[in-house]
Amino acid sequence: MDRQLGRILISRDEIAARVAELGEAIGRDYAGRAPLLVGVLKGAVVFTADLLRAIPLPAAMDFMAVSSYGSGTRSSGVVRLTSDLSLSIEGRDVIIVEDVIDSGRTISYLRRNLATRHPRSLALCVLLDKVSRREVDVEVDYAGFVVPDEFVVGYGLDYDGWHRNLPDLAVLETLAGR
Ligand code: IMP
Ligand code: MG
Repeated sequence: MDRQLGRILISRDEIAARVAELGEAIGRDYAGRAPLLVGVLKGAVVFTADLLRAIPLPAAMDFMAVSSYGSGTRSSGVVRLTSDLSLSIEGRDVIIVEDVIDSGRTISYLRRNLATRHPRSLALCVLLDKVSRREVDVEVDYAGFVVPDEFVVGYGLDYDGWHRNLPDLAVLETLAGR
């Protein structure tokens, strides 16, 4: 590996506190309704599972998968749906749950794709927002943390499939001279 785990950017305690706040905010905004969380595989699995439990309402969960990254650390810009939802979202209050927004390409593709299926409402909740990297305009309804332009792993986020099981969010560092 030409990369190694670096400093912790956001600790497990900070993540838990923020997820609790997001759940409360969603609970207030969706009072009287039953939102459907649509997690984006695989990076958002851990976040989606925690967020679901922080929402004090009847709530459901489904997943879809897109591929945009290959195995590098930069988006290719080409987004492909690789696994679809198992439920109809027609008439539902849908909240897309994503791990990171970088260029915004993945999420803007997903938003457009889901909007054609006639949900009652469509919102976006993202754990990490790399605001400075944005190339495509995206409306973010709930954001966990704004983060700098560094590659982050842990809490579901991976590099080439690894580090998803780290409970904290850490920076992945490039080893000098390799
Ligand atoms: P975008 O299409 O450029 O916005 O890229 C978003 C996708 O890239 C996310 O769904 C992640 O899977 C991946 N990604 C972007 N930044 C990171 C990172 O720092 N760590 C892990 N995955 C990332
Ligand atoms: Mg992702």
